[in-house]
Amino acid sequence: DARRPLMAGNWKMNLNHFEANLLVQKLAASLSEQQLADTEVAVLPPFTDLRTVQTAVDGDKLNIVYGAQDISQHKSGAYTGEIAGSMLEKLGCTYVLAGHSERREYHNEDDATVNAKVKAAFASNLTPILCVGEGLSIREENGHCAHCTSQVEAGLAGLKPEQVKQIVIAYEPVWAIGTGKTATPEDAQEVCGEIRALLVEKYGDEVGNAVRILYGGSVKAANIASIMAKPDVDGALIGGASLDAEEFASIARFRE
Ligand code: G3H
Repeated sequence: DARRPLMAGNWKMNLNHFEANLLVQKLAASLSEQQLADTEVAVLPPFTDLRTVQTAVDGDKLNIVYGAQDISQHKSGAYTGEIAGSMLEKLGCTYVLAGHSERREYHNEDDATVNAKVKAAFASNLTPILCVGEGLSIREENGHCAHCTSQVEAGLAGLKPEQVKQIVIAYEPVWAIGTGKTATPEDAQEVCGEIRALLVEKYGDEVGNAVRILYGGSVKAANIASIMAKPDVDGALIGGASLDAEEFASIARFRE
């Protein structure tokens, strides 16, 4: 398995820039060079913390990458409150989330908007983390695989195969986010495996087997190893547990 694991901490709407600096420093200090070489560790702070994180990472040469939680689909102009990809690029971001379930739910982002955001990310040399996942009612009707693969297809529409190859996909069952209910490793593998099968079918083996697929939803140090043991899970998108440096570092050390 040549895919390098990625542990991405989504801070959501938490931490001011003083707290952000402390957390990033603590996190880096809790992980050895070898651990950070084996596993890519990313933090996704609020926009207002990005400059602070950039300064900490560059100034202390920390082997941590970072990104934003959202991106405007537009390049620039009269879009009050929005943040453009070029601004994130200038701040040294590597990643940007596209279509997190909280954006889809509370900000009415549909698949077409998410697809436009994925394209905006590539236009500014950012790697999108395309988020997909089903709500409880869809899971109860056994529609979860079809729902997630259709979100993936729509999110990737119009991309070149070499772009798809770089993308990260995060599967987050909405019923498992912030609820303490983790999907079982088998649940995670079922959907991640279906997503991989779709990618292989549409883009071929080389592309489909290169894409990293993350699981997200109540991930913590105590459950990460069993989730990572599944063949099509290449990392995690971590919310609550990423706000604690020790807990997040333990997740990144999932092999030990
Ligand atoms: O982006 C992260 C996910 O929404 C998971 O959040 O780990 O707090 O359940 P959580």
